[in-house]
Amino acid sequence: MIRLTDRAHEICQRFLQPGDIAVDATVGNGHDTLFLAKVVGPSGRVYGFDVQEAALEQTRQKLGQEYLSRVIFLLHSHAEMNQWIEPEHRGHMKVVMFNLGYLPGGDKAVTTHAESTLVAIEAACGLLHPEGIISVIAYPGHNAGRDETGTVTDFFRAREADGWCLEIIEAVAESETAPRLFLLSSQGGS
Ligand SMILES: C[S@@+](CC[C@H](N)C(=O)[O-])C[C@H]1O[C@@H](n2cnc3c(N)ncnc32)[C@H](O)[C@@H]1O
Repeated sequence: MIRLTDRAHEICQRFLQPGDIAVDATVGNGHDTLFLAKVVGPSGRVYGFDVQEAALEQTRQKLGQEYLSRVIFLLHSHAEMNQWIEPEHRGHMKVVMFNLGYLPGGDKAVTTHAESTLVAIEAACGLLHPEGIISVIAYPGHNAGRDETGTVTDFFRAREADGWCLEIIEAVAESETAPRLFLLSSQGGS
């Protein structure tokens, strides 16, 4: 089975340079936030969204002093992304990462939902740098996740039809229930 989180990091890293701006739309345990904070360097910025204070606090601890000042933590839904990104950063997002679902080891009731995920991904498209990428890991193996994965797939397929570049990597080939990684960019490059 392919580790989609590692694959997402590997691909997103190609789009990032020191000084860049990125978003972690689902901070959770902070693995993606830490990855982004390292790659954008001291002059870069990472916006981190989560609806659970416990997730943000845990991630603050994980980052430590070295990386903390690079991250803007937002205890808000990613569906509100448009209103929280500074005007000078709009259109400059090099990477926007989503890892959908619930916090591993946390409250399974606090999960992402198709409707708000769609609003957030649409916002991310508008905030993206022309050479940026949106990375979404989705989990169709449970009921809510199946609907959400369907919604995400339809949206990305429509963007692909509009000329955007879409890659879908399945953790297990031809399995309807296996997690999958969506990579959407306007320029390709992955
Ligand atoms: C699978 S976890 C993310 C894992 C994380 N990226 C990591 O590296 O550890 C999903 C997270 O999304 C958060 N979440 C759920 N709904 C959300 C929303 N509307 N906006 C932002 N975060 C949300 C959950 O609280 C949970 O922490």
